[in-house]
Amino acid sequence: MILGQGIFNSDGDTWLIQRKTAALEFTTRTLRQAMARWVNRTIKNRLWSILDKAATEKLAVDLQDLLLRLTFDNICGLTFGKDPQTLSPELPENPFAMAFDTATEATLQRLLYPGFLWRIEKILGIGSEKRLKKSLKVVEIYMDDAIAARKENPSDDLLSRFMKKRDVDGNLFPISVLQRIALNFVLAGRDTSSVALSWFFWLVMNNPEVEAKIVKEISTVLEETRGNDHQKWLEEPLDFDEADKLVYLKAALAETLRLYPSVPQDFKYVVADDVLPDGTFVPAGSTVTYSIYSVGRMKAYGVRIAWNSSRSGGCHRKGTDLNLLKMATTLWLLMLDQGLVWGRTWLTCK
Ligand code: HEM
Repeated sequence: MILGQGIFNSDGDTWLIQRKTAALEFTTRTLRQAMARWVNRTIKNRLWSILDKAATEKLAVDLQDLLLRLTFDNICGLTFGKDPQTLSPELPENPFAMAFDTATEATLQRLLYPGFLWRIEKILGIGSEKRLKKSLKVVEIYMDDAIAARKENPSDDLLSRFMKKRDVDGNLFPISVLQRIALNFVLAGRDTSSVALSWFFWLVMNNPEVEAKIVKEISTVLEETRGNDHQKWLEEPLDFDEADKLVYLKAALAETLRLYPSVPQDFKYVVADDVLPDGTFVPAGSTVTYSIYSVGRMKAYGVRIAWNSSRSGGCHRKGTDLNLLKMATTLWLLMLDQGLVWGRTWLTCK
């Protein structure tokens, strides 16, 4: 299936070597630079023009769809150096993106339903197993091309880095494993980030007072770094140093993730008998599920940004300031960077 021997689906030495490699690579300055390059290019050349056109023609946009396209293109670029350009003005249906989604969904169904069901479907070649097989073929062909391109012309993406590493037996990773390593990163980084960005903008649209503070903070930083000419503020997306100064924006983002975590629930298998910090005994072979969503809503965590997340019934405003939308996509850059910082912390802890 789509996860194969990638980091999400492996244990023991296979997992450890990927985790260590990722930890090491995430600390490199070149990866950060590559990230900034991919993100800035897509935002400036494609997202901005789509938003500008929509604003001029007074058209509504499906922000969630745009953000998913943005993060997909960027993660593919960062992971294997090939941008599928799903975020183009005509918003094309992309065979790779569609096959990736179908394969992810069919893989999830294996987890949701009793094992015998998908096994029967697989033997008979029907239902979601049929879709899985077909979509995996499309994904694998696409990844084969990406790997061949990287072999010929190595770059600063994650795949090029993994291609130089050796597995537990001291051999280079075979192509089938490299494919899955890359696909796991795409899966890890795409939806998590776009979902967080969508919730962020939803919250901002419902909380004009928070939006005003974010705009003020961004304007203050831009005045410091680019002067008073507002034209210059929108010539380029914010760079890392500018984004780093946006303390309130980072807090708003953290609050978004607390209230609407992109991974609301996670689970771990117990490999050996153990006792949790609260004294609960967990026998080997059991599964421990924890709810990130519930923890984030515990009173102990308090409220750090005064925005109202309990308003229901959809958006109260039809939109938000276009310039904020354009500038705050820097958020994506911040989040990627923060993701790597968190990743680094976890990875080094191990
Ligand atoms: C808002 C953005 C993100 C959120 C909320 C998020 C959240 C998470 C969570 C909850 C896990 C599971 C941790 C565990 O089970 O111990 C995870 C794992 C992981 N994430 Fe993220 N993530 C985000 C962005 C990213 C990005 C941008 C990347 C890489 C480009 C990434 C790469 C990974 C990897 C490789 C793992 C697996 C680690 C392992 O199993 O050892 N994540 N993420």
